[in-house]
Amino acid sequence: MEPDLPSRDPRDRDHRELRSSEWYTGDVRNAYIHRAWMRRGVPSSAFQGRPQIAVANTASDLTPCNAHLGEVAQSVKNGILEAGGIPLELPVVSLGETQVRPTAMLWRNMAAMATEEMLRANPVDGVVLLGGCDKTIPSLLMAAGSVDLPAVVVPGGPMLTGTFRGQPLGCGTDVWRLSEEVRAGTLSEDDFLRSESAMIRSKGHCNTMGTASTMGLVAEALGVVVPGLAGTPAPDSRLLEGAHNSGLLAVELVRQDRRPSTFLTKASFHNAIVALAAIGGSTNAVVHLLAIAGRLGIDLTVDDFERIGADVPLLVNLQPAGRYLMDDLYRAGGFQAVLREVRDLLDPSALTVTGRPLVEHLEDARIWDADVITSRETPLLTHAGIAVLRGNLAPRGAIIKPAAASPHLLQHRGRAVVFDTIEDFRARIDDPDLEVDENSVLVLRGCGPKGYPGMPEVSNMPLPQKLLERGVRDMVRICDGRMSGTAYGTVVLHVTPEAAAGGPLALVQTGDWISLDVTARRLDVELSPEELASRTPNEATLAGFAAPTRGWEKLYVDHVMQADTGVDLDFLVGSSGSKVSRESH
Ligand code: FES
Ligand code: MG
Repeated sequence: MEPDLPSRDPRDRDHRELRSSEWYTGDVRNAYIHRAWMRRGVPSSAFQGRPQIAVANTASDLTPCNAHLGEVAQSVKNGILEAGGIPLELPVVSLGETQVRPTAMLWRNMAAMATEEMLRANPVDGVVLLGGCDKTIPSLLMAAGSVDLPAVVVPGGPMLTGTFRGQPLGCGTDVWRLSEEVRAGTLSEDDFLRSESAMIRSKGHCNTMGTASTMGLVAEALGVVVPGLAGTPAPDSRLLEGAHNSGLLAVELVRQDRRPSTFLTKASFHNAIVALAAIGGSTNAVVHLLAIAGRLGIDLTVDDFERIGADVPLLVNLQPAGRYLMDDLYRAGGFQAVLREVRDLLDPSALTVTGRPLVEHLEDARIWDADVITSRETPLLTHAGIAVLRGNLAPRGAIIKPAAASPHLLQHRGRAVVFDTIEDFRARIDDPDLEVDENSVLVLRGCGPKGYPGMPEVSNMPLPQKLLERGVRDMVRICDGRMSGTAYGTVVLHVTPEAAAGGPLALVQTGDWISLDVTARRLDVELSPEELASRTPNEATLAGFAAPTRGWEKLYVDHVMQADTGVDLDFLVGSSGSKVSRESH
């Protein structure tokens, strides 16, 4: 019974232009089926020219950082309805960074693939992407890039700052720091455990400039977030207002046919890299941005991070590189105030979901606390970008985040202490007889995309207890894995090719001299080409590489690419668009 509704015939063919009309319009049996099963109290007008907007939701009790996204989704839906669209919540694969083993990164591509396919398979015209915890925004953006439907991201936002005995606690960063204090004997285990309940103060993701914070902000710099929304704390009511506006915008995007491929260009990635440097963002953004660019067919390389980011100043004083937390950044003027300071370094041609350039949205931004966001004249560092190293240990590159490293170790020569697996490392690192001192270089291999598998965040290896007790707080560490965005130290990451893919890292032996020169962008083992060529990986090294025989891990190891191209699966690069070739019934 629909007495007061517009008398549109559900079979009319006026709305062929909407993708969803391929399901819903017409009098054929299949259109009847598509409509009938979706009715359930919905009037027939819902299928007549109203954009069908998926709300791809990574809310999950097992992704605690995203557990509040149901509430955010409700605001998005209100906005979609207000604009005349039909909101359709689509639960998608979610990844809780702290919970998922062997590493959430192993599942990023699976989440991206599943989301891409479900968006394509369903009668939707556009999508609002709800993410937060580390891998969720990257996987959603990879999916959106490949299906190329109008899309806008709502970052779920960071949590409020918890305090312990009067001191603010940085998620992740303070776990690393306090646990090292326990091992050094300067903090009791009881006190360490007492801080546990204070660490997570509210809903939201980690409050440091880790991967979740970084990817939310970087998504806004790319142009796929309503300007000014990224970094809004999860409990702040302005997040819901922004979510509502994102719902309104999603309907507009469909009406304008503003798909990711129409505005995401190399210029957008230029802006993302400038932003990444200015905020002192996570090294993980490198692999995520490379993977997203790969989906869009944009020619982004690891060297672009060096070329574009190297001269960008660090303006944000947040842990792990600095002192404050995300709540402070928002209070101090937010991400837009940071972007405004580096406006001249941004590409003015890069458009956003609003249809206007990113730079045009920065006019009103101001810095309200110059201790948290520094002005361009007084940066925390003049050269903040991620450095790309090359040499005979990393022919296709390795990266280091100088902002999170110790200045005295950026040029360093030391003897390698080599570990074949993280288990080998854990078994031996605190052995009082291990031959290691503060000048040694800790090398861990078998932690790349294929080797682990999944390229876990283990590169910031804990230091030997005997050195911690002597006051040593940093050493050069080298690994083919990743590092948590919340971690710090002089850590060379993403060594490419990884040991398990034939990289020379597999050939290093304990006692070899290794030289790191970040200024010269070099990473070498001091061996002649002949000596290196004569070596083969030893048994223990080979035994440390994963050899899965079935399931996702098998598919992953067979197809995963290296860090220099974003660790995507080779057959997922590129876009298939939103076309579906066949009917379902
Ligand atoms: Fe989810 Fe840090 S664990 S953002
Ligand atoms: Mg992480």
